[in-house]
Amino acid sequence: MEIEKAKKFRIQHFAEHKKNNQKIVMITAYDYPTALIADAAGCDCVLVGDSLGMVALGFDSTIPVTMDMMIHHTAAVHRGLKSAFLITDMPFMASSISDENTLKNAADLIQSGGAEAVKIEGGVSSAHIVEKIVNAGIPVMGHIGLTPQSVNQLGGYRVQGRNDDSLNRLIADARAIQDAGAFAIVLEAIESHAVKAIIDSINIPTIGIGANADCDGQVIVLSDLLGLQLNGRIPKFAKQYSNAAQLCVSGLKEYCQDVRNGIFPDKSNEY
Ligand code: KIV
Repeated sequence: MEIEKAKKFRIQHFAEHKKNNQKIVMITAYDYPTALIADAAGCDCVLVGDSLGMVALGFDSTIPVTMDMMIHHTAAVHRGLKSAFLITDMPFMASSISDENTLKNAADLIQSGGAEAVKIEGGVSSAHIVEKIVNAGIPVMGHIGLTPQSVNQLGGYRVQGRNDDSLNRLIADARAIQDAGAFAIVLEAIESHAVKAIIDSINIPTIGIGANADCDGQVIVLSDLLGLQLNGRIPKFAKQYSNAAQLCVSGLKEYCQDVRNGIFPDKSNEY
């Protein structure tokens, strides 16, 4: 397959895309092969999401994901990317213990993982830490709305912005993260009318996941999009574009049959 060489997507391109009304395409990736696929498809930016806890490691939430896991997976994705901008998640508690610990964790994701930016969940309460990291020279993407690391505090994976109180909190969160210096912000699982109000209250690019088409860009979890999870449930806000797991099972079934029937390997595989 001929792979077209794409221009390197850099941090300034987020604001440029917003200004030019050009949508930003973001996808998650978790290892070297998925990074190669995301880059070859021409995605603008790749997120090593802590969703890797569920989709790559089989946990039932993002809470068990550690800094060591994030560095390990970020480094693998980094090795697979040429053009896409690489963002990685600060996992649960990695930005909560102390400023010193937070700065060290952000630095490790950049220095050992090869990320170009980190993503931090939370609004007003995370703003001071976003500011510290940005002042240290590390770009930060914010993430508000349904923030999976706070699932126990949110009372489950619930759509946000359904009433005025919630909407006002989200607007305050978005402004605080923008004022702290974030270059873009993810809006996750937010009621449609609230999304528009949030977008109108800030200037930085918004990346939506379950947050309607008004956002400046979109992100989906790669395994939802490709159908990588055998019998996985696709969330309402995602779209499945292929059925990769079924395709893999079919290929493997054929291999099993061929080995059992003595069809593979044949003469062409011999040295
Ligand atoms: O962890 C993740 O994959 C994410 C995206 C869903 C935005 O944070």
